Amino acid sequence: MFAAAIDRFGGPEAITGHALPVPPLDADEVMIAVDTAGVGSWDADVREGYYAPRNPHFPLVLGYDGSGIVAAVGSRVRRLKVGDEVYSYNWENPKGGFYAEYVAVPADKVAPIPKRLDLRHAGAIPITGLTALQGIDDALKLKKGETIIIHAASGGVGTLAVQFARLRGARVLATASGLEGVELVQELGAHMTIDGKRADIDDQARRFAPDGVDAILALAGGDALEKCMNVLRPGGRLAHPNGIEPAPKKRRGLELIRYDGISGVREFERLNAAVQAAKLKVVIAECYSLAHAYKAHERLAEGHVVGKIVLSIHAS
Ligand SMILES: NC(=O)c1ccc[n+]([C@@H]2O[C@H](COP(=O)([O-])OP(=O)(O)OC[C@H]3O[C@@H](n4cnc5c(N)ncnc54)[C@H](OP(=O)(O)O)[C@@H]3O)[C@@H](O)[C@H]2O)c1
Repeated sequence: MFAAAIDRFGGPEAITGHALPVPPLDADEVMIAVDTAGVGSWDADVREGYYAPRNPHFPLVLGYDGSGIVAAVGSRVRRLKVGDEVYSYNWENPKGGFYAEYVAVPADKVAPIPKRLDLRHAGAIPITGLTALQGIDDALKLKKGETIIIHAASGGVGTLAVQFARLRGARVLATASGLEGVELVQELGAHMTIDGKRADIDDQARRFAPDGVDAILALAGGDALEKCMNVLRPGGRLAHPNGIEPAPKKRRGLELIRYDGISGVREFERLNAAVQAAKLKVVIAECYSLAHAYKAHERLAEGHVVGKIVLSIHAS
């Protein structure tokens, strides 16, 4: 099969095309003929060796989420069958990731795609969708009528979190990057939007919630987040997925919740229900062919990606 893989840790140019054997399939696994693979900052971290095991195994096929069609199922798999359209998030990929024509994944990390999405759009959201929904529902336990700042909302996780927060009946202030980012999160349903790189972000946010906001979902760290935290009411909650830099420090009187997006059967059932109920819009910023995976990483490194970058495995 064709795959985009690295033979060493390094920059985007380390990703090259490889002819590799189709991974072997274990009894509790599903073989997915990949249609779309997600590209996120964590892929670049792995490419650079940030999460490197002591004896990394090369060639290493990148990619932790995506969508496709079930090509084979292991002997113990009952929930899925050949031909199903599925999506998946699997952080542990010892047999190789989603930047490939085929990937073998434990069946409990695979789910039918939501009815309202096609393979391309479903493939863009396993990691970001699970992380957004679990931030709103599990970490923050956001309730109807509460106010929330979704900080750095114009990226992969934030564009979905805005819609899930609206689905739960919250009033949403979204900070985004640049005019396109601000316009996008407004279209996605934010009640108020601010360019998060403006100096007076806290003054603006106070107009939204004069008594302070109930919750913050932080998708970037730094000065702007610190300013948002000034607007959190006493006893308010701040949640962020691990990985934002710099991670915010605990302050007296606020509840700080760090979390990771979790993949599993129940988690995907909840995501599918929320996608349906929210009539979710998935914003694909750019789509690259598998052979051009290195270009997708060059684009990621340039920054200011509004929405999500994906790879289309069968595009030329
Ligand atoms: N632990 C987990 O399970 C998990 C899972 C998913 C994601 N994450 C982490 O969550 C974070 C968000 O992920 P993502 O995929 O959504 O990232 P992303 O697509 O890069 O989105 C971040 C967005 O925030 C914008 N932004 C940055 N600084 C801002 C500011 N001061 N004000 C307003 N907007 C700002 C960025 O715009 P510019 O590019 O123009 O600055 C970008 O649009 C990352 O740190 C990622 O590592 C963790």
